[in-house]
Formats: sequence, structure tokens, C-alpha cells
Amino acid sequence: MSLNYLDRIPNNVDLGANRALQRALEHWQPEFMGWWHDLGPSDFQAADVYLRTATSVDSKGWATYGFVRMPEYRWGIFLAEPETDRRIGFGDNFGKEVWQQIPGEHRSTLRRLIVTQGDTEPASVEQQRLLGHTAPSLYDLRNLFQVNVEEGRHLWAMVYLLHAYFGRDGREEAEELLERHSGDANKPRILSTFNEPIRDWLSFFMFTYFTDRDGKFQLKSLAESSFDPLSRTCKFMLTEEAHHMFVGDTGISRVIKRTLEVMQELNTDDPVAIRKAGAIELPLVQKYLNFWFSSSLDLFGGDSSSNAASYFANGLKGRPDEARFEDHVAAGLTFTLELPDGQGGVTNEVIPMRNAINEVTRDAYVKDCELGMKRWNKLIEKTGHGFRMTLPSTRFRRTIGSWANVPTDPAGNPISREEFDAHRDEWLPTEGDRAYIYSLMKGVLERGKMAAWIAPPERGINNQPIDFEYVRLA
Ligand SMILES: [Fe+2]
Ligand SMILES: [Fe+2]
Repeated sequence: MSLNYLDRIPNNVDLGANRALQRALEHWQPEFMGWWHDLGPSDFQAADVYLRTATSVDSKGWATYGFVRMPEYRWGIFLAEPETDRRIGFGDNFGKEVWQQIPGEHRSTLRRLIVTQGDTEPASVEQQRLLGHTAPSLYDLRNLFQVNVEEGRHLWAMVYLLHAYFGRDGREEAEELLERHSGDANKPRILSTFNEPIRDWLSFFMFTYFTDRDGKFQLKSLAESSFDPLSRTCKFMLTEEAHHMFVGDTGISRVIKRTLEVMQELNTDDPVAIRKAGAIELPLVQKYLNFWFSSSLDLFGGDSSSNAASYFANGLKGRPDEARFEDHVAAGLTFTLELPDGQGGVTNEVIPMRNAINEVTRDAYVKDCELGMKRWNKLIEKTGHGFRMTLPSTRFRRTIGSWANVPTDPAGNPISREEFDAHRDEWLPTEGDRAYIYSLMKGVLERGKMAAWIAPPERGINNQPIDFEYVRLA
């Protein structure tokens, strides 16, 4: 590996002195570039994009802005600074020293956890690869590419762990992360949400709001891990992940804002009139929200899970923000689940707390999702309209867990299959809705211009003006 090449991988893992890691990366890096070329953002590879790059983990270096062509992006390897005398924060080994190497008995489980997380990173790049052509502005195009290159870096982060700590099988897993592809019939990505193509920007904003937020909570749980390099890797990824959710949050806000403007101008909430004006009626935004929220809930896994219990007992994967809990061993505690009783009603079941870790994490996620509703509803309220955005119940449209395939209304009341089918089109996007959204997707790539279905952002990136030339098209 040439020195020049090492310069191109900013890192704080002493890559320059680690020959074994260099050799592993020497092999993997060209494959990554091939993957980026084939399945990363379609076109735009020659454009200069105003991107932030992490060049160190301190407050100055983690967000360095400048123009760069995406294939020349410096995908780096960073771990948050080590905590002195960090101790295991939960489970049976609570209070003991954390691990700098992987204990043999947890090797395959940790590998699986890292691979499952790692798989989502390139998957989302694949899902979003065609969106550049239909960006509503250069500002949005830049944000899309920022998210894409950072998901690429998150893949690097996970591959670093596989290469540095798992030997040969780690190297094989790293290759497979580039061989599975989103939506591929033979070799799909591991989690189903990451096999759904994202063809429109409303879905992209919903994905970055809801699905990247699932990522946030998975990373928070892994940041608690007793395996210290995994914990530190995830902590640093969380700093970047915040921007992805910002893109979703402000994207949805801007869609709503534009719709409200049209509603004010035309003095109507008639969906036909709103669509005629090229905006997206609020109930349709709600339907997309219902779809992506419920799909993202499934990513947390079953509500009662013996796997989750053993991850917790063994200190591999904890609860998000473990410090906020009183009892970190959680051996004698219980959790009450609300389950379908099989006869159209609801029944309670008390299970050991450790088996309910997925549910505890999902609850924290739902609370976090609610913050957006408050912001968006304030916008609507200010204009005097009565519509309110709401999160559906966690029982609604689930495909994993106790509520899987149990028909309920968005409030979570069990209903018959017939009733569900009769209302489906009011609750979830129809083919016609999707076709309408898709019809709005025409790229607006002229400097300072904005598509008609979305309001401009309130401010630009890194204090640049909104009409800054965020992408210099080649
Ligand atoms: Fe990520
Ligand atoms: Fe992300």
C-alpha cells in the first residue's frame, strides 16, 4: 500500500502501523470502489459536491467542508475517544472491565450483530441510487449525497471491525457486505425494509426520518456494548447520523409548509385542488408516514425475544442510554406486553424484562419519533387548519412480532380483515397516490431554484446561503 493511499484514509486507528489491517483493506478497498461505481449514486460521479468529511474525531475535524467528487471522498475509520476505565454497563458482567478483544464464546454472535448493522449501510445507498435525477434542488441533491457517502463510511467503520478483530471469517463477511444487494432476488439485504426501493423524495424524507432513526437506536444499543471498539465505533457514527435525521425532519417540514402555502393561497383543503397546484395534500403525507413508521418498527424485532435477552445478559447489546435505567442487571424485573388475544381483543402478558429489550428500545424510538409530530403540527396549527399529523399505533400494519398480520386501525384497535381492507386506501398510499408523487419527481438542478411541491429550507448548509451552488454539475 503506497503512502499516498494511506493519506487518503483518514483514521485514528493507527492504520499506518498496522500491516495486517492494511493488507485486508488493500484487497477490500478496490471492491468497495467497484461497488460504489456500480451501485452508488447513478451519474453525478464527476460533479463537485459540497460535502463534509470527517478528518478527526475532535470538534474541529469531524466536519470539514469542501468540494469533492464522490469517488474521491475520503472514507475514513474513526472511533470515539476511549473512556478511561470504562466498565461493562449492564447484564451479568455488570461492573467488570470492558473487552478490547472479543471473548471466544461471543465471537459468532458479535460478528452477526456487526454484519446485520453493517448490511444496512450500503443497502440504503443502493435504495437511493436513482434519486439524484429527481432532486427538488441543488441543496437537496447535496444532502442526498452527504447521506450516501456517510453511509459508505459507516460501512467502512463496520468493515474495520470485521478486519481488525475477526480474522479470516471477518474478511469473508466484509466481502459479502458488497455482494448482497438491496432488492436482489438471490442475494437480498438482510432486513426487509432495506430491500424496498426508494423512488421518490417523500419516501426518502420518510426513510431518513424513520429508518435512519431506527439506525440511531440500534447504534445507541451497540454503543453500550462491552466490546469497546464496537462501542466507540458506534458512538462516532451517531454524530453523523444526526444529519441524516435532520434531512428527513426538515424535508417533511418543508413539504408540509409548501402544502399549507397552497392551502392558504387557494383557501381550500380539497386534495384535487392542492394536487392541481402541484403540492401534496396533508392526508397523503400522513399515509406515507403510516407506511414508513410501521415498516421501521419491524426493524426492532419481536416484542418478546430470547436473543435480545441473551445479548443483554452477555453484555453484547444493551438498552439505548443504559445510564437512564436504575437496575442495570435487570434480572428480576418484568415487563407487561399488550398482545392480541386472538378473538379481536387485547390481553396482557408479563415477561422477564430481559426478554423485552426490543420493546424497551422500540418505546424509546417511538418517543423520539413523536418530536417531529409536535414540530409539524405547530406549523399546521399556526395557519389555523385542523389537520394533525399522528404516529399510528405500534400495532398497526406490523409484519414482525405479536401484532404481525393482525388487522388494526391506525389507533391500534383490532378490527376485522374486511374492515381493514375497506379502509386500507385511507390509511396507506395507493397505487394512484404513488403515481401522483412520482409525477412530481422532476429534477430541479438549476442554482437557487426549488421544486413546487416543497418549500425552501430555512438556512443553508454550514452557513452557506440557500442558493449556494452546492453541487457543481460536470
Ligand atoms: Fe448509517
Ligand atoms: Fe444514516
